[in-house]
Amino acid sequence: MARPFVFGTNFKMNQTPAESAAFYRQLAAKVEIPAETHLFVIPPFTSLAAVEEIASPPPHQIWIGAQNVHWAPDGAYTGEISVGMLGALDVDLVLLGHAERRRYFHETDPELNLKVRAALGAGLRVLLAVGETAEERSFGVGGETVLRQLRIGLHGVQPEHLRLIHIAYEPVWSIGAGGTPASPEDVEPIAKLIRTGSRDLFGEPGGDIPILYGGSVDPSNAGTFTALANIDGLFVGRAAWTVDGFIATYQAGYTGR
Ligand code: PGA
Repeated sequence: MARPFVFGTNFKMNQTPAESAAFYRQLAAKVEIPAETHLFVIPPFTSLAAVEEIASPPPHQIWIGAQNVHWAPDGAYTGEISVGMLGALDVDLVLLGHAERRRYFHETDPELNLKVRAALGAGLRVLLAVGETAEERSFGVGGETVLRQLRIGLHGVQPEHLRLIHIAYEPVWSIGAGGTPASPEDVEPIAKLIRTGSRDLFGEPGGDIPILYGGSVDPSNAGTFTALANIDGLFVGRAAWTVDGFIATYQAGYTGR
């Protein structure tokens, strides 16, 4: 099975509901989406209802994602959001394990596994982010770190849910304004490890899980990552926070394949 091209952005803790809705509306009006291509935007929770309201009815052409979810269906978890709440807003996808969640909010792999399974059980697509820190890389255990995150994060996932899973490989040292962009030579060996690791977990169908690269991607380097054998798309922050930047980075990545 040919793997789709998948591209999207996470707005992190930016934008009001009106700003996110305007972005989504302009993007939907401007962008062309070829077959076997999936685009997504991940606004903050507070923007989801506004984006949903201006989107055409589901299935959404541009997936609407959430930045996190709790694993419990409901209960005494002040400040948290459940899969049922996201489902009620027709959210398409949930991002789990972003480096900022792991670093600042101390999310662990076993907790992420609970979240992954709760989201899949509710029929949500999952974008599971994995990636090694600079320190782990300096000790030569980047691959081990990523494989551990993958194996624990996807532990116990049922084969029928595989089609809902996407992996974002984002080396922590490459993300954000202080990051050093990774080179394609850094990325391909780890992407290959993720591919073989997914096959080890799920057999041949595990090899169909799309793998996105993220971390300081922009129009100038997007095509160098999508040219790699095991990279199927891009997960972009800053460069895709304007509609024109989103489209330019997406097009550079798409044509680079
Ligand atoms: P960046 O962010 O593209 O701004 O480096 C990527 C991310 O945090 O996913």
